[in-house]
Amino acid sequence: MGAFCLRWLLVWQCFLIPVWGLDFYKAAVYEHPTVLRLNLTIPSTREGALRLMQKNLDKYQEQVHEASKQVLYQLSCMARNGNMYLIANMGERQACELSDPQCPADGRYQFNTNVVFDAEGTLIAKYQKWKLFRIEIYYNKPKTVQHVIFNTPFAGKFGIFTCFDILFYEPAVSLIEHYGVKQIVFPTAWMNKLPLLSAIEFHQAFASAFGINLLAANQHHPEYNMTGSGIYTPLGFPYYYNAKSSEGKLLVAKVPIITSIKDHSPEHSKSQGTSAFLQRNSHNELSVLQQQKVGVKLEQTDPLKHPTLSHMDNPGDTFHASMMSDNYTFIPLTGVQGNHQVCSNNLCCHVAYEHANTPSNLYALGAYDGHHRVNGSRYLQVCALVKCAGSKYDTCGQGVTNATDIIDFKLWGNFSTRYIFPEILASEMKLYRADSRGWDNNDFYMTKKGMSAGLVTAALYGRWYEKDNLSK
Ligand SMILES: *[C@@H]1O[C@H](CO)[C@@H](O)[C@H](O)[C@H]1NC(C)=O
Ligand SMILES: *[C@@H]1O[C@H](CO)[C@@H](O)[C@H](O)[C@H]1NC(C)=O
Ligand SMILES: *[C@@H]1O[C@H](CO)[C@@H](O)[C@H](O)[C@H]1NC(C)=O
Ligand SMILES: *[C@@H]1O[C@H](CO)[C@@H](O)[C@H](O)[C@H]1NC(C)=O
Ligand SMILES: *[C@@H]1O[C@H](CO)[C@@H](O)[C@H](O)[C@H]1NC(C)=O
Ligand SMILES: *[C@@H]1O[C@H](CO)[C@@H](O)[C@H](O)[C@H]1NC(C)=O
Repeated sequence: MGAFCLRWLLVWQCFLIPVWGLDFYKAAVYEHPTVLRLNLTIPSTREGALRLMQKNLDKYQEQVHEASKQVLYQLSCMARNGNMYLIANMGERQACELSDPQCPADGRYQFNTNVVFDAEGTLIAKYQKWKLFRIEIYYNKPKTVQHVIFNTPFAGKFGIFTCFDILFYEPAVSLIEHYGVKQIVFPTAWMNKLPLLSAIEFHQAFASAFGINLLAANQHHPEYNMTGSGIYTPLGFPYYYNAKSSEGKLLVAKVPIITSIKDHSPEHSKSQGTSAFLQRNSHNELSVLQQQKVGVKLEQTDPLKHPTLSHMDNPGDTFHASMMSDNYTFIPLTGVQGNHQVCSNNLCCHVAYEHANTPSNLYALGAYDGHHRVNGSRYLQVCALVKCAGSKYDTCGQGVTNATDIIDFKLWGNFSTRYIFPEILASEMKLYRADSRGWDNNDFYMTKKGMSAGLVTAALYGRWYEKDNLSK
């Protein structure tokens, strides 16, 4: 048992510990520095890819052996006590018959796989990644998308998917909407991409948009901009981001069992079919309550009251700049406070804002309604208030991490999709959640006041999944 137990620990990224009789359980995610040696040089042949994969596997084993000598003794003892579920990500090889038309010439499939062991050490679930990232050419896509759910006696069911999957409807959103999953285990090797897709920024937004628990374990490779893990729950969101240290990090937190939270009870989710935040023009009780609460807030939030178009400043002063390789339409923020609108195709974005002090940096409001075709085609609708990297317009949309301007704002847009992920990133990779957000007729909005750190990015990152595969 000891050796077996150690073997799980070599590959683990995530584990769950039952806390009996309470409305919480403990979860830990480990941002591991040694598991993966990523090589961004794409080999030109499958043979080359196999050699590379073998090299990576060799390296992996060697380093994992190193790690097991230092880090993990205590954890291995915990595992041996039989008190936790372990989830790990690993490469999987599966022999196939050459009569299978999809069987690769070398007679085996290679999958990017998550494995789940229960407290007795039994393999209870396995998930093969569906949305392979551009550079994962040494992995095969399984024949069909898998909706994998495993059950625990202490916290009910969990869904599982991997990394890039989170940006698409299948299987990520489908698990939540069609299978009622409210807790997700999410191993990832996420390369941060500012301003909109840094790991902690997007993963937190995903969890909070759906009102679920997301246990995200990134790998730790600052040299590839790969850091940022978190335990994102409706009650709190401890996270870890460290681009400087080469050390791994174990993050442990109490996680509320989500059915015990009133607003996310199964009754509500059943009547809505989806989470409150994503529900559009809903007439059920929960949404009405939320809208009332929001209405009160908006009244109090002077000067961020819902402005009318006639009060917009400089409506004509727009420019174009590239953000995340997409061509955004921007409008600069001018002055200590103001209102602005900017449109892209059918999406119009608005901001009402007020600086706490004299502005010291250029900010701009950007809108994008269209396909994103780099690294996986997907349809986006985005409203983003960004700090520009410099004082010139063409620096708006570039990644920055530091800011000193404290800004209260309301950000909104007339989105055509209900899948909108609200992101607020402040100086030095500090995360915030919106004070309020939701639908107000055809607009989705969020508000934030009184942040203690400078604003880097505030974005409503919308995904219009149905349009992903349409060419226009
Ligand atoms: C990446 O792989 C290529 C091809 O195998 C190799 O030439 C190169 O040295 C590798 N780079 C790193 C940083 O390991
Ligand atoms: C990491 O991010 C920084 C800042 O955004 C960027 O300059 C750098 O090229 C990135 N490194 C890699 C390996 O992508
Ligand atoms: C696409 O992925 C590569 C890594 O494979 C990364 O360097 C690049 O920044 C990504 N581009 C965008 C627009 O996300
Ligand atoms: C961005 O879009 C605008 C408006 O469609 C266009 O004029 C401009 O050339 C585009 N910029 C780039 C770099 O494609
Ligand atoms: C959003 O607002 C603009 C400006 O009022 C309008 O032209 C556009 O049709 C609206 N989009 C949707 C989807 O209603
Ligand atoms: C951001 O601020 C921190 C602390 O003030 C500083 O150490 C760091 O170098 C800054 N980073 C950038 C990119 O300016």
